[in-house]
Amino acid sequence: RKKVTTRTLQKWKLAKEPIAMITAYDFPSAKMAEQAGADIILVGDSLGMVVLGYDSTIPVTLDDMIHHTKAVTRGVSRAMVITDLPFMVAHLSKDEVLRAGARIMQEARAYGVKLEGGSEVLENVKALTTAGIPVMAHLGLTPQSVNQLGGYLIQGKDAKSAERILTEAKRLEEAGAFALVLECVPEELARVITESLDIPVIGIGAGRFCDGQVLVFHDILQMGGERIPSFVKTYAQVGKTMVDAIQAYVQDVKQRRFPEEKHVTHWSETMSVVYGV
Ligand code: KIV
Ligand code: NA
Repeated sequence: RKKVTTRTLQKWKLAKEPIAMITAYDFPSAKMAEQAGADIILVGDSLGMVVLGYDSTIPVTLDDMIHHTKAVTRGVSRAMVITDLPFMVAHLSKDEVLRAGARIMQEARAYGVKLEGGSEVLENVKALTTAGIPVMAHLGLTPQSVNQLGGYLIQGKDAKSAERILTEAKRLEEAGAFALVLECVPEELARVITESLDIPVIGIGAGRFCDGQVLVFHDILQMGGERIPSFVKTYAQVGKTMVDAIQAYVQDVKQRRFPEEKHVTHWSETMSVVYGV
């Protein structure tokens, strides 16, 4: 099947064809997402929380993102792979953010980058897109600012902050972003922004009217996470299935039920004679 590109997404926006995006962090999860038909695979810095065991996305480094993106791109041929710029990188000098974007594309072979923020990152969005590095923007709840925001809270609930998010969305589009992730905003605001922009808007906790949806791999599958946000729909209890299976293995070993005859190789008759068993 044909590769998903910025042009594909543009076409789908016009045709009102929904865009399905999911995160992945390694080779097997990327292969599964690709096989399932996901259009965009995000190597999100949620990596830090769901795979690396940090309590926020803040400790994640560019090297972490590149390491995991390399594994993801090896498992993907059709989907567009986008990698998050981790904490602070989008705010560094133009040179530094360009270098980070280049590493993500050249070393890790991602299609482009995602970065959080509005006005404060606009110049860098322009620099990146001008240099040929596709940028997916991210507004609303921006988890890298969790300490500044004071928690993982819904954004754009009052007129003033809603207006600000809409304005910044338009500016990011003007600066060259090819898509926008909107996280944890009221459905009505997400709808207005989706209708106001020419680029696709991908929602997470942003209601039903976006051009696409994104969720975290481990949340969809209930794989590890203790607290799953209310905007997530879960489709399986993979975590429980895995623990049950591992527990069955551990018990088999302890009860000497594994290995069985069918898992065993035997040596030759002459060896049996020599060793007497
Ligand atoms: O890091 C991430 O997984 C994300 C998505 C939830 C949008 O940024
Ligand atoms: Na992220």
